[in-house]
Amino acid sequence: MEDSIIEVKDVSMCFNLSKEKVDNLKEYVIKAIKGQIKYDEFWALKNISFDIKRGDSVGLVGFNGSGKSTLLKTIAGVLKPTKGEVVVHGSIAPLIELGAGFDMDLTARENVFLNGAILGYSRKEMEGYYDDIVEFSELEAFMDVPVKNFSSGMLARLAFAIATIGTPDILIVDEVLAVGDFKFQEKCMARIQNMVDNGATILFVSHSIEQVERLCKSVVWINKGNLKMIGSSEEICEAYKNSQ
Ligand SMILES: Nc1ncnc2c1ncn2[C@@H]1O[C@H](COP(=O)(O)OP(=O)(O)O)[C@@H](O)[C@H]1O
Ligand SMILES: [Mg+2]
Repeated sequence: MEDSIIEVKDVSMCFNLSKEKVDNLKEYVIKAIKGQIKYDEFWALKNISFDIKRGDSVGLVGFNGSGKSTLLKTIAGVLKPTKGEVVVHGSIAPLIELGAGFDMDLTARENVFLNGAILGYSRKEMEGYYDDIVEFSELEAFMDVPVKNFSSGMLARLAFAIATIGTPDILIVDEVLAVGDFKFQEKCMARIQNMVDNGATILFVSHSIEQVERLCKSVVWINKGNLKMIGSSEEICEAYKNSQ
């Protein structure tokens, strides 16, 4: 559609789970070469189709293991769907797996520039954003510490501060706020709301349905890899809460 920023077109995702029991790597390699490794197919997403309009704030709900993260990864381009395709018209700042873009041996400061490069910013642009990242993440005293020494909450703060610099067309937030404390969660919610107000498109997954209701205009409900319902936030959240 014309004003769509994300088009999910009949997306299916299959994971091959090896069900072969082998005693050692050598045996595995020999079996693999002979084509004797058998797999169980597991379809984590089944024929999912929907469009997201530019500027919409979209929540994804569904029980654990229903395929939310897998769907977000196909949208972010981290995973290629087994069938179907995802078309994205714009830049994406993904916050999917905590620490995914980090090198644990590097300091927080070094990781800021590493992540900036991954997101497509020049070193000079990142120097401009640096103070804001440090201030927002409240990690002034820890910028020269290797991030392997960070708690998950500290990592989440740094990752969130980096992902929300500049003006990405699309921000994806997959449950990364859960590890932060309440005060920081509220700060992040305010920053996401601000990005929505400025026209960004948001894809949001949270353990807290209350946060989804507050932030999102539309909601997509995924159940066991199927699209169960899609509609206004009020309608879908109500139905989802009643199903629990
Ligand atoms: N890389 C993978 N290999 C095999 N199975 C996977 C992989 N990633 C996810 N899955 C499976 O796909 C299903 C959906 O997972 P996920 O997308 O993480 O769900 P959710 O985010 O809704 O909790 C789960 O059953 C999970 O175990
Ligand atoms: Mg998930």
